[in-house]
Parts: sequence; structure tokens; C-alpha cells
Amino acid sequence: MTPALKNPSRSLLDIEDLGADGIIRILDLADHMAEVNRRPNPKVPALRGKTVCSVFFEDSTRTRLSFETAAKRLSADTMTFAVSQSSLNKGESLRDTIETIAAMGVDAFVVRHGSSGAPHLIDAWTQASVINAGDGWHAHPTQALLDAYTVRSALGRTGGLDGLRMAIVGDVKHSRVARSTAAAMRMLGVHVTVVAPRTLLPPDASDAFADAVTDRLDDVLADLDVLYLLRMQQERMNEALVPSLREYTTRFGLTTQRAAVLSPQTLIMHPGPMNRGVEIAVDPAELPGAVITQQVTNGIAVRMAVLFDLLGSGNTAPGAETADTNSDTSREGGSQ
Ligand code: CP
Repeated sequence: MTPALKNPSRSLLDIEDLGADGIIRILDLADHMAEVNRRPNPKVPALRGKTVCSVFFEDSTRTRLSFETAAKRLSADTMTFAVSQSSLNKGESLRDTIETIAAMGVDAFVVRHGSSGAPHLIDAWTQASVINAGDGWHAHPTQALLDAYTVRSALGRTGGLDGLRMAIVGDVKHSRVARSTAAAMRMLGVHVTVVAPRTLLPPDASDAFADAVTDRLDDVLADLDVLYLLRMQQERMNEALVPSLREYTTRFGLTTQRAAVLSPQTLIMHPGPMNRGVEIAVDPAELPGAVITQQVTNGIAVRMAVLFDLLGSGNTAPGAETADTNSDTSREGGSQ
């Protein structure tokens, strides 16, 4: 039987689905969630009775833990599907697996998969919301949202990010983060330059992907508001795309010499995990503009905002109440 069509706004598969207005709506909601997270007891009952299931077919530290923390802070029940201990190993198909978990009563699947498009397939098989937590080289929409949120809050902005200049540097070809973050930033008014060796650029790196493309990092450094370093994804390279990691660092890494050229106000970002000594050859703790830890912290507020946006219809946004209501809500959440 063909399932009834799902309201597309009940899932988050690509950052483009949100558009600029949708991104700003989530970032504004994340401001309220960040306020919840600053409370002594950072828990509210906003998604009580909802169940969020993490289904990660690829390794993750930040995304999986921050989604699970976000769901718990909103009082949702959480399920973690352990791929290596599942009946997938007995030959059960992905579709049967998803339909089996859905039959237990799941409101949202948070899906990471090594194949581009896997969350879209899952979305077609279930009435639950599906959140793309990273698929192959394709997309990582919540990373893009937390990146935009981090820039906005670090610079004390509201609304969009008009007029900022950003460089995304490194292994763009294999990077779902580069695709989603570049798209989100451009929708918010940022001028995005992609900096990479030709061998690490995708075929659509020009107009569709960025405002400018170059292989000369030193030409753009001095004018940047945001320097975004990508991880060299050695596990996705099945051919030698750079002569050596040492040469890569010499031409594209953030070295002490390059850090000295940056304005002290330039934000330095990385989605993690970092290859220290490769794309970043200085200690980020010594860089005044580094906001890499803030990206991780903000990931919780942004993922709370995404979960609430998809599952919390009809409820008042947590953190948007009066101060008196805040303390009541916090106590109520804390009694869970
Ligand atoms: N940035 C990111 O997706 O990190 P994880 O792979 O640790 O989730």
C-alpha cells in the first residue's frame, strides 16, 4: 500500500528545503533553546510523549550525542539503534528495519548514512519525521544551521548575515558540510569563496555552489569574516588527490604564519573532527577568533530547535516564556 503523502515540513532532509526564512526561524528558536540550556536545570517538557530514534550507519561523536542530548532536554524519549547489534546483520533490509522500528511508535528518525539519499528513501517509507544527520557527500543540514547560528551569535547579529565574507577551505569534493553550510550561508547573504586544490573540488563548485573559487588561500585570508576549515576526509579518498598531507598543509592549512595574517575578528571554524597538523597546524585555543568549541555547544540548542520545529506544533517555544514561567517550566521538566 502506498503511504499517505507526508507534510514535507515534517522532515528536514536538505538545508535548501528551509529557505532563508526557515533558517532564520530555526536560528531564532535556537536563541530560546540556548536560554533553556543556560538554566541550572536545562530541561523543559516541550516534547514529552514524543520518541526520537537515532539511526547512525556511520560513525559520529558530535551529531549523535547532541541530538540525543537535545531530545532529552525537551523531555522526549530516545531510542538508539545500534547497527552492529541489529538484525541487519541477519539480512533484514533497511526498509524492513525502519518499518519495524516505526511500528514501535517513533515520532522522528535522526539518520546518518554513508550513502547520499538514504534519509530521503527512509522519509518515503515512514510517516515519522526524518532528520538528515549527514548522508554521504551530499548534505548535513543541521551542521549548516549550527554553523550559521554560531556566526550569528559570535557577531551579535539578528536576522541574516548580509555582507559577510567567508572562505570554506579544503576537501570540498567529499564534504557534505561544505555543500550544506555554503548553501545556508549564501541564503543568509554571505559571500562564500571555496578554496581547494582542483583535485578536491566537485564539478559544481562554481556558480551553483559558491560565489568564487580559488586555489590560492593566501589571496583571500586578509579580507575574511569567517575562515571555515574542512577536515581532510582520508576515509572517503580512494585515490591520491593531493601529493602529500605535508604539501596540503603548506598550501591550504591554517599555519602560524597564516593565522598572523587574519584579522583578530575573523572567526575560525571547523565542523570536527579535526586533523591537527593537517588542515589546522596551530592550537585553536591560541586563536582569539576560534569558535570551534562554541559550534559544538550550539549544536545542542540548534538541534533542540529543529526537533521542536518538527514535533512541537501547537506548543509554546521553551525559553520564550516570562521569567516566572521559566522557573516553573524548568521545575516541571526537572521532575521527569
Ligand atoms: N561535524 C560532525 O558531523 O561531527 P560528527 O561526525 O562527530 O557527528
